[in-house]
Amino acid sequence: MRFALLATVLSTIAANAEADDARLDSLKVVSNVARALPNSPDGYTPSKVTCPKNAPSVRSAGSLSRNETAWLEKRRNNTIAPMQTLLARLNITDFNASQYIENHSNNASALPNIGIAVSGGGWRALTNGAGAIKAFDSRTQNNTGPGKLGGLLQSATYLAGLSGGGWLVGSLFMNNFTTVGALQADTSGSVWEFGNSVLEGPDTGGVQIFDTAEYYTHLVSDIDGKSDAGFDLSITDLWGRALSYQLINATDGGPAYTFSSIALTNPFLDATSPFPILVADGRSPGEVLIPGNTTVFEFNAFEMGSWDPTTYGFVPTQYLGTNFTAGSVPSGDKCVIGFDNAGYVMGTSSSLFNEFLLELNETDLPDTLQGLIGNLLADIGEDNNDIADYTPNPFYHYNLEENLSANSTRLTLVDGGEDLQNIPLHPLIQPNRNIDVIFAVDSSADTTYNWPNATALVASYERAQSSISNNTLFPSIPDQNTIVNLGLNTHPTFFGCNASNFTEGSHIPPLIVYIPNSPYVTYSNESTFTFSTNDSYRDAIILNGMDVATMGNGTVDTTWPTCVGCAILSRSLHRTGTDVPEVCTQCFDTFCWNGTVDSSTPKAYEPKPILGELNISNKGSTKLVNRWAAAAAAAMAVVTSV
Ligand SMILES: *[C@@H]1O[C@H](CO)[C@@H](O)[C@H](O)[C@H]1NC(C)=O
Ligand SMILES: *[C@@H]1O[C@H](CO)[C@@H](O)[C@H](O)[C@H]1NC(C)=O
Ligand SMILES: *[C@@H]1O[C@H](CO)[C@@H](O)[C@H](O)[C@H]1NC(C)=O
Ligand SMILES: *[C@@H]1O[C@H](CO)[C@@H](O)[C@H](O)[C@H]1NC(C)=O
Ligand SMILES: *[C@@H]1O[C@H](CO)[C@@H](O)[C@H](O)[C@H]1NC(C)=O
Ligand SMILES: *[C@@H]1O[C@H](CO)[C@@H](O)[C@H](O)[C@H]1NC(C)=O
Ligand SMILES: *[C@@H]1O[C@H](CO)[C@@H](O)[C@H](O)[C@H]1NC(C)=O
Ligand SMILES: *[C@@H]1O[C@H](CO)[C@@H](O)[C@H](O)[C@H]1NC(C)=O
Ligand SMILES: *[C@@H]1O[C@H](CO)[C@@H](O)[C@H](O)[C@H]1NC(C)=O
Ligand SMILES: *[C@@H]1O[C@H](CO)[C@@H](O)[C@H](O)[C@H]1NC(C)=O
Ligand SMILES: *[C@@H]1O[C@H](CO)[C@@H](O)[C@H](O)[C@H]1NC(C)=O
Ligand SMILES: *[C@@H]1O[C@H](CO)[C@@H](O)[C@H](O)[C@H]1NC(C)=O
Repeated sequence: MRFALLATVLSTIAANAEADDARLDSLKVVSNVARALPNSPDGYTPSKVTCPKNAPSVRSAGSLSRNETAWLEKRRNNTIAPMQTLLARLNITDFNASQYIENHSNNASALPNIGIAVSGGGWRALTNGAGAIKAFDSRTQNNTGPGKLGGLLQSATYLAGLSGGGWLVGSLFMNNFTTVGALQADTSGSVWEFGNSVLEGPDTGGVQIFDTAEYYTHLVSDIDGKSDAGFDLSITDLWGRALSYQLINATDGGPAYTFSSIALTNPFLDATSPFPILVADGRSPGEVLIPGNTTVFEFNAFEMGSWDPTTYGFVPTQYLGTNFTAGSVPSGDKCVIGFDNAGYVMGTSSSLFNEFLLELNETDLPDTLQGLIGNLLADIGEDNNDIADYTPNPFYHYNLEENLSANSTRLTLVDGGEDLQNIPLHPLIQPNRNIDVIFAVDSSADTTYNWPNATALVASYERAQSSISNNTLFPSIPDQNTIVNLGLNTHPTFFGCNASNFTEGSHIPPLIVYIPNSPYVTYSNESTFTFSTNDSYRDAIILNGMDVATMGNGTVDTTWPTCVGCAILSRSLHRTGTDVPEVCTQCFDTFCWNGTVDSSTPKAYEPKPILGELNISNKGSTKLVNRWAAAAAAAMAVVTSV
């Protein structure tokens, strides 16, 4: 294998890194070879290695990690120039935005701090979210003219994804923070070839020609290896392996690619990319999740853990799979690396889809796979088939009184949308991160016809009222009937405009720029359970997503690009006591929810394409949708209460 040598070098470096004082700069030596990294020494199978001298440990969630803090110094600085360019272009009348940023450039805490969140919703969410990211990316061709928002991605500090949105974020970062356009254009392998469903497998395994049976043989052999090494399996292992063929541009779905390896790639080391985060929920077998009591976990390139007062701790992502007890590795114990397989992490955030792998039993499958699925289900039970196993629990005996799974050697996680918070806002509203504005791209299927109605925002708002919120604040969000009646899901809407509503507490939550999926040039509401989307429909939804984010390049509302600039600046202006430009006041009049409530039952929401509809003769196969939709509805009924 051509990666073998590289993998050995990297794993040696990684194993010897001094966890405590590892600074980003010391890793520069490896950065020249970096492209997302197949640095798990034994492929999908986690490896036991000697712990570094300063063994990894669990830290309290009371602050940001030293790694993240050091990284932010670079990133915040790197966002200054792109933000100046973008804001100058967005035509904020009577306001010298470039000068404003310049004046405050020595004080990062005064400058706008931007987050982007991409919701779940399967391949629809991946593609609609991809449209928004493509629209925000200055690397996209012809993307810095009038009406364009190129440069917002380069100005952003954080990029969070959940479930289908996590596939997008994970795929970009596993592929060296490449562009959406490059992933669309790639024909060298199976990456982003969604016409071949994950159930049937790709035409090629990267270099060699593949058939479905061979595909399954690879999946089974990968996860068998993990099992043989003594790790508990869940259906998520199979799901994550399958997904990887579509998301990671490497032979056999890159079984050795780890999530923590993102921290070793050039765009991350140089802080030319935002900070990627994926979200999952904690759920014990048999437990029902509601927004008000779910522990939300995040995975970033440095750490995995939770800010919530329950777990309230983080562990180095690279060392997941290690036996931690009360926050430390017992002396003499080995450390584990390679457990944080990138596909497994993306599969965890989207574990609701495990359900569909079970349908495989009905199709013509190798006995090995059927047997394996049967065994997995026998272990965990049908009702828990969405669980991703993170045994050994890294938070075992950690935070004994509050941590719900403190006394369990097992930690089980599920799809980040199962508590209905289907937009990954949780990591971005943490006071420690001081984010000013979140561009929240919502591709949820809330309404009868798979359009969003802000259920995800309602869930995050409700959660902020419960004790688990630990004083994270969230802007007021009206009920979904109001959202639909006022048309707030037909165009971008701002929530939490008035910063002075929050000044009683010590901190002000971010302004939420809600960007709901809606039809511009195609019906971008394909079912979450459409497993095959051919390239023309994929590209149409991505194009539609660009229009959603830019309001048709500013043609549907000519003030929109300027108003994006005002949203970026809003909290910063408040902080620096700067007068709000008149043009921004107008923007807030137009785009902010003004507090009006109309909870009457709306009529069916059936939007039509706002611009001319593209002609796509064939969208890919949806033939199995109904069967799966029924199975998925049953699964949702088990795992969510509302
Ligand atoms: C900091 O990052 C380096 C490089 O990824 C890693 O080796 C180290 O374990 C990290 N430390 C923590 C506490 O996450
Ligand atoms: C990764 O992307 C960076 C640009 O951010 C580029 O300089 C580098 O060559 C790329 N690495 C590979 C291996 O493609
Ligand atoms: C800040 O960013 C600029 C532009 O990216 C770069 O030239 C400069 O070296 C950076 N300064 C620091 C202290 O990182
Ligand atoms: C800038 O905005 C003003 C209104 O504030 C408008 O009259 C003008 O046409 C805009 N310029 C461009 C280049 O869009
Ligand atoms: C570039 O964008 C402008 C403005 O949206 C558009 O009129 C023009 O056709 C685009 N050019 C290309 C080559 O896509
Ligand atoms: C995928 O990998 C192939 C072969 O290494 C490379 O030529 C291609 O540019 C990669 N595609 C992307 C989007 O990175
Ligand atoms: C959360 O609430 C649900 C519904 O009330 C309940 O079944 C579940 O046990 C609760 N979970 C926790 C961790 O309190
Ligand atoms: C959040 O929870 C932790 C752990 O329970 C606690 O120590 C901390 O004081 C809480 N923070 C706030 C702001 O309530
Ligand atoms: C972790 O503990 C389990 C159970 O005691 C044991 O089987 C396993 O080998 C341990 N892992 C390591 C890396 O020491
Ligand atoms: C697969 O089907 C067989 C025969 O109908 C059944 O015995 C087995 O339990 C099924 N396995 C799963 C995983 O549903
Ligand atoms: C775990 O066990 C300890 C000691 O037996 C006990 O004090 C603590 O309350 C338990 N924690 C939970 C969350 O059940
Ligand atoms: C909003 O979405 C939820 C599901 O997320 C659904 O139960 C509810 O009926 C929807 N309401 C409206 C008005 O669309």
